Formats: sequence, structure tokens, C-alpha cells
Amino acid sequence: MKLSVIGCGYLGAVHAASMAELGHDVTGIDVDPERIASLSRGVAPFHEPGFNDLLVANQQKLAFSTDMSAANGSRVHFLAVGTPQSSDGSVDMTYVNQAVSDLLPHLSPGDLVVGKSTVPVGTAERLLTMVEPTGAHLMWNPEFLREGFAVEDTLSPDRLVYGVTDDDAGVNDTAILDEVYAAILAKDTPRLVMNFATAELVKVAANSFLATKISFINAMAEIADVTGANVTQLADAIGHDDRIGRRFLNAGIGFGGGCLPKDIRGFAARATELGVGEALSFLKDVDDINLRRRRRVQEILSAELGDLTGKKIAVWGLAFKPDSDDIRDSPALDIVESLARAGAHVTGSDPEATGPATRRIQSAGLEDSVTLEVDHLSAARGADAIVVATEWQHFRTTDASVVANLVNNPLVVDGRNCLPAGEWKQAGFVYRGMGRS
Ligand code: UDX
Repeated sequence: MKLSVIGCGYLGAVHAASMAELGHDVTGIDVDPERIASLSRGVAPFHEPGFNDLLVANQQKLAFSTDMSAANGSRVHFLAVGTPQSSDGSVDMTYVNQAVSDLLPHLSPGDLVVGKSTVPVGTAERLLTMVEPTGAHLMWNPEFLREGFAVEDTLSPDRLVYGVTDDDAGVNDTAILDEVYAAILAKDTPRLVMNFATAELVKVAANSFLATKISFINAMAEIADVTGANVTQLADAIGHDDRIGRRFLNAGIGFGGGCLPKDIRGFAARATELGVGEALSFLKDVDDINLRRRRRVQEILSAELGDLTGKKIAVWGLAFKPDSDDIRDSPALDIVESLARAGAHVTGSDPEATGPATRRIQSAGLEDSVTLEVDHLSAARGADAIVVATEWQHFRTTDASVVANLVNNPLVVDGRNCLPAGEWKQAGFVYRGMGRS
């Protein structure tokens, strides 16, 4: 089938390449000429495992353009533009609104517009009034992909959610999307059909639940720190209860990235608009607990080292999570910046994210106190403390005795509780975890 994907960020670009992998002819459209040029050359504009291979393997079935008229003739048009956070915490709908207005002249009767972006509940109903006069139909099909697993999550999702209108058109639209996802459905992937509002809510409810789970265990870490308990053992023990589950119970410096932080704020803002803000007031606590985690690292360093002025701190990890070069709302980078502002000299290290991090450090005017490099061992040279801020695999398996010979002072703050604490202590380090010591 001929498809268009409007918006070629993490979500759209991976979706476009994955749909080509499923056998469709796909046109990706984005307003950013650099991004489009890179995708057209078959070069991934961001780090995402497996994505570049998919792009190269499907070059014949993929086209990219900055011109919305390239959507002409596609049967299905996926909306995958960004929905960033506005300064008041609500969702900025500028890109979605613009993309839909720009798409309207290129729609034909019977076309299907499929929203994938994460939007405030009520959006699809509103967009329907714009799309319907063209004779095209609208569905909402939220995406649940995780960065680092974007290709896998797109081609083998846990479930497909279809938000449809409550009429015959909705039934026909379901059949068209089934055709698009035929190869995925053939793997017995659960497919749930519901109304627009429910489909929109599924996404933000899922992310709110995940954020709450992380903040819950981080709250337990705060208690563990004052009681001498070990939060990792606590998580292991409660996680054995199937009703709780062990996943997303890793305490540390908290969640970041382009989704969880903005989604909980956007969801709370939307609930307030709808007059039911109290229902989500707990998300403010979830957010507050999360932001406290970032400050906790500095508290530990100050307690151990005193005044941080002139201290050399190596921060391992800049991306918001491993296997990603994404620094959006990264707890790691926030920590780098606040340590630099406290007078420390920070050497940040990340295998993928030094490029985007350098731009952010420059725009923050912190380039005199922050050095960024790819190699974490050279970042550790002469350090008064090491902070592990992103749990890249090679940080976890680094030989502590090698690091002990490089540093000035053997202190490690394990912001992701990912190091073998015993080995680091044996190598002579003072080990401080998050809710465990
Ligand atoms: C998330 C959702 O998982 C995904 O379903 C949705 O589509 C988009 O948002 P992503 O932002 O890629 O995906 O990252 P995720 O793997 O969920 O991690 C989010 C953050 O939580 C990271 O900063 C991670 O380090 C942190 N995290 C995760 C924890 O601090 N502890 C955990 O136990 C798990």
C-alpha cells in the first residue's frame, strides 16, 4: 500500500522505515531539510539500534520530502509530528495543527489519516472536524515505542490500539489499518478497538503508570537512605509478586527523555482543563519525587567532598537512557549542569551523546567548566568522584581496579544502581548508591 508519514523524528522515521520493511511504499515528510536530506541518503539522523540497517535495506520503498504534496496519492497518512511541552506544562499542539492543515489539500475521499502522536484527550474529535470535509477518515493509533528498542517495538508491538469513530466508517477504517499491519497481526498481536478518547488516554495512562512506578521506587530509595535499607533488594522482593512485577522498579536519578516527563505534565494540565485536575494531582508528586533524584547526587557529593568548587567530577553518561543519543530532559545532563554551576569541573562522557550534549552545554554557557569526551576511562583520570548517570553496558562492566588507578579520589556515586557495589568497594572505592550503600 502507498503510505505517507508526516513527521520524521524518532517516531515517524522509525515508523516509515518499519512500514517499508512490511512491504509498503512509504513517503516520509518533515519540515526539517537536514533531516530529510540525511534520511534520503539512507543515513539515520539519530542513534537507534537497527534503524540505519532498516533504512538502507528499504531504500527502494522509501522516499523522503519536505513538501507536503508528496502525500498525494497515499491511501493512509500517519501523523507522527512532535507534541512538545509548552512553558505552562500543557501540550504544544502547534505542529499537529499545522501538519493537519497542510495535509488537507492533499487528501482524497476515502483516504485514512492515522494519528500516532501523543495528544491531549479530545484532539482526535477536534481534528475530525477538519478532516471530514475532505471525505477522508480519521483514526487514532498511539505508539508505545521505547527509544533504544524503537524498531523492535514498531515491528513487534505488545498491542495495537485503534481509536475509531462509532459508525460504519470506523469499521472500514479498521480493515484498512489491518491491511497495513497485516504482518504484525499475523503474529497474534493483540488489537484493541475503542473510541477516540479511550485510545488517546491509553497512551498517557500507560506513561503515567510507568512514571508512577519509577517514582514509587525512588520514594522507597529516599526511605532506604535514612533507614539503612537496600532499595534494590526491596524491589527484587516486591517484584516477585506478579501483581507488582519487577520491571520499571529500578531506583536511581529518575526518568527523563522526550515522553514520560512531558506526558505526565501534559496529562495533568489537560485534566485540569477538563475540571478533573484532582484526579491526577498525584502526578505532581510523581514529578517532584523524580526531580529530587537529580539533586540527590549533588547532596551526596557535597556530603562526601565538602565544597565542590574546583573539584573534578567525572559523569559517566549524558543520554537520558542507554542505547540512545537523546538528551531531552536527561537527568544525566541536568546533573552535569548543576555540578558545573556549583563550581565543579565536570568531565562528562557518553558513547553516543557528546554531539548533542556539546551544543546544550554551549548554549548554557558552561563550556569553561564542562569537558565532554567519548571515553569514560579518560574522563575518570584525576577525578575526585565518578558519577554513573546512564547505565551503558560498558560502564557496568568496567573493571573497578583499573579505574582506581586513574582517579584522584576513590569515590563513586552510582546514580543508576547498576555497578557491582562489592567489586568497587574491594577496589578501594567509597561506593554510594541511590537508596543503597
Ligand atoms: C517511554 C515509554 O516506555 C514508551 O512506552 C513510550 O512510548 C515513550 O516513553 P522511553 O522514553 O524511550 O519510552 O524510555 P523508557 O525506557 O520508558 O525510560 C524512561 C526513563 O525512565 C529513562 O530515563 C530511564 O532511565 C528511566 N527509568 C526506567 C528508571 O529510572 N527506572 C526504571 O526502572 C525504568
